[in-house]
Amino acid sequence: MNAATELSRADAATPQALRALIESRRAVRRFTAEPVLKEVIRDCLELAVLAPNSCNLQPWSFQVIQDPALLARLHPVCMSQNAAKAPLIIAVLARPDTWRTACAGVIQHWPEGEPPALIERFYRKTAPFQYNQGLLGWRGFLKRQLLRIVGLKKALMRTPNSHADMRVWAVKSTALAAENLMLAFQSHGYCTCPMEGFDQVRLRRVLSLPKQAIPIMLLAVGKPGDKAVYNPRLRFPLDQHVSWH
Ligand SMILES: Cc1cc2nc3c(=O)[nH]c(=O)nc-3n(C[C@H](O)[C@H](O)[C@H](O)COP(=O)(O)O)c2cc1C
Repeated sequence: MNAATELSRADAATPQALRALIESRRAVRRFTAEPVLKEVIRDCLELAVLAPNSCNLQPWSFQVIQDPALLARLHPVCMSQNAAKAPLIIAVLARPDTWRTACAGVIQHWPEGEPPALIERFYRKTAPFQYNQGLLGWRGFLKRQLLRIVGLKKALMRTPNSHADMRVWAVKSTALAAENLMLAFQSHGYCTCPMEGFDQVRLRRVLSLPKQAIPIMLLAVGKPGDKAVYNPRLRFPLDQHVSWH
């Protein structure tokens, strides 16, 4: 399938169908014990990683937890909240530390033979310059000084130039994948609840998370139980958040 045909497939998702899917998603806090089908989980993860992401470096990872013993250990880590009694929890992790392997991966997995020279140069030279902040951030510090001077004359990308910037960088793309994941489950007839109500220290221990991984949310997934949604939907008037120029 060529690129033009793929792009035109966007017509398949009508605005009405997309609106219906997005509107039907709610944060569900009570689930039945019905397990989530393995093939559905795989399909949803495949859709999650189709999310747009910075420089295609895909700075995310996912831990899929269905083992009852591990779920039982996670429940108190999630402040014993109802949503954490779901039959499936997916830990959505941002990975500011995987850019180096990802740069090599883009070259290695290039879909049409050898990558064009420009692409190869970007992933071998430009991306490492952008993302390598050095031990204790010394490279980032130097880059910030350099940017201050060069930036007086021309427009430049100012971030990421610190380890803190790298965390924001990875979280942005991973949050987009998390939204894809929620909508994908919704399309399969499952409900979700994103949770940041957890003890990060205990979570790291229970899931043996790599030190650099940032758990951005735990996603509870399952079929809705009784009184699954606590409150009616509430959003502020759109104009409160939007300015038009
Ligand atoms: C990053 C994030 C963290 C959240 N953490 C929790 C949580 O720990 N527990 C919970 O019950 N809901 C949690 N929620 C769900 C929100 O409360 C919910 O999305 C919001 O109230 C809007 O409701 P709606 O999703 O049904 O439209 C979280 C949502 C997000 C995006």
